This record gives sequence, structure tokens and C-alpha cells, in this order.
Amino acid sequence: MELIEEIKKKVEYRSLPDAFVEGFLSAELKERKLTEEEIKNPKNRNHKAVVSSVRSKLREVYGAFLLNDYRKLPELINRLDETAEVNDFVRILKAHRSTKERVKVYPFLYEQIFKITGKPKSILDLACGLNPVSYCFLGCHPEYYAYELTERDADLLNQFFMKVKIKGKCDAADLTKNGKFPKTDLCFLFKAVDTLETVQKGSVKSLLSKIKSEWLVVSFPSKSLGGKKPIPASKRKWFERLLEKKEWQIVETENELFYIVKN
Ligand SMILES: C[S@@+](CC[C@H](N)C(=O)[O-])C[C@H]1O[C@@H](n2cnc3c(N)ncnc32)[C@H](O)[C@@H]1O
Repeated sequence: MELIEEIKKKVEYRSLPDAFVEGFLSAELKERKLTEEEIKNPKNRNHKAVVSSVRSKLREVYGAFLLNDYRKLPELINRLDETAEVNDFVRILKAHRSTKERVKVYPFLYEQIFKITGKPKSILDLACGLNPVSYCFLGCHPEYYAYELTERDADLLNQFFMKVKIKGKCDAADLTKNGKFPKTDLCFLFKAVDTLETVQKGSVKSLLSKIKSEWLVVSFPSKSLGGKKPIPASKRKWFERLLEKKEWQIVETENELFYIVKN
């Protein structure tokens, strides 16, 4: 569909799967009831409104996390080898909003998580962003299975695993639709569940039922991005309800709250 191509002309959305963009687009077309003529005319006011509204939703679930260095990732990853140092990884982690925020707390964070779960031999990282690059802070050497939305991001992470000789693999998947995952000791779902619910309401319940890992580690921002205002606990109630009778503990960092759930 031509509208999808038009929406994907913005460089940060170029690698998104067409089917993913189409999900937002068809909802928007339905709501605004565009005529065939309006759909075909890029100069039409309603046509422009649809393109801009879909792009703004894509920004909310994907584009907003990418920082300046994201474009340099192929080069930054290509430079890595087995002798890479912490600073090389930190530069990469700073290309994504979520990992940038965690850079200073990773050693503390993983130590606190593993105090509860024990050190993992295998990790599943869903909607992973650049979090697999924090491997150097784990303090152990698990096998690493990661999933992200686009082929481009999955390819980059596979190259990262290869360059630094980590036994890891990243697959591209829209987690609101697909998912058959390896059974691992831990499953990370860092800052991902709110995003997945925005893409598809109800998708997290179905995703959780597909995860066979021993432990789930699910995080939420505890402060708003812009104003750094505290986010009330009531915003996470929907997720706690999904956990039903499962037991959990909380680990907190300055800006993020982690549920450590026995699955
Ligand atoms: C807030 S970021 C968190 C990234 C990472 N988990 C972290 O905390 O460092 C949300 C991530 O979800 C990914 N994402 C959004 N929709 C997705 C979908 N339908 N399937 C898989 N991943 C998705 C985005 O590309 C983005 O990397």
C-alpha cells in the first residue's frame, strides 16, 4: 500500500515491518473514514493527518527510544572484538534511551536481581532494545536469546554477539503476534509491557502465557521521561492482576522498578 511507503519515508521507520505499520494505519483509516480519493492524494488534509498520526504512534512505540548514536551502531559494533572494553559497550548502550538511563546502575541492578534468582545459565530478553550489550555487566556468562521488532536491529545484535564471542542469538519478531521462545532460567521484559499493550491491547497476557522461563524480570519506569515525576503504582495494577497467584519481589533503581517473578 502506497501510504505505508509514505509513512516509512521517515528514516527512523524505514526498517519497521510493513505489517506492523499497517496495524496502526488500518485503525487510523477506519477511525477517520478516509475516501479512496483522499487516500490517494498526498496533498489532502485528511491524508496528511493520517500519515502524521501513524508516525506519532510509531514514535511512541519505537522511534522515541532511538538516540543520536543509533545511526552509528553498525560502525560502533563493527569496531568491537574480543578485546573490547567497558567503554566501548557503554557508547553503544547510550544509543538507546532505556539502556542509556541504566548505564550507571547495571552492576548494582544485576547483582540485586541475581541475589534473588541465582546467576542464570540462560537468558531470554524480549523487546530487548540494546539491553544485550549490557552483557559485560552480568558478572556471569549465560547463553542469551534476544527478540526485537525489526530485522535490522536483530542483525546488528547478532553481529554484536559474533564480534564479542557471546553465545547469543537475536530474532526479529512482533511480540504482540508471534512467539515461541526457548525455556531459559531468566526472562527479561524491561520497559516493554506498556509498549506492547500500546501496540496491541491484551497482548501481554498472551505473551506471558508463552514464556516458560523459571523467572520473569519485568520492569516499568518509576518516573516520567520528561518531568521525572513519580509514576503512581496504580499504573502497574493491570500487570499485577495478570500475575495472579505468582509470587514476586521488587528491586528498584533511581528511575525504574523491577518485578522479580517466580514463573
Ligand atoms: C522502552 S524500549 C525497551 C528496550 C529494552 N527492553 C530496554 O529496556 O533496554 C521498548 C522496546 O520495545 C520494542 N518493541 C515495540 N513494539 C514491539 C513489538 N511489537 N514486538 C517486539 N518489540 C517491540 C521497541 O523496538 C523497543 O526497543
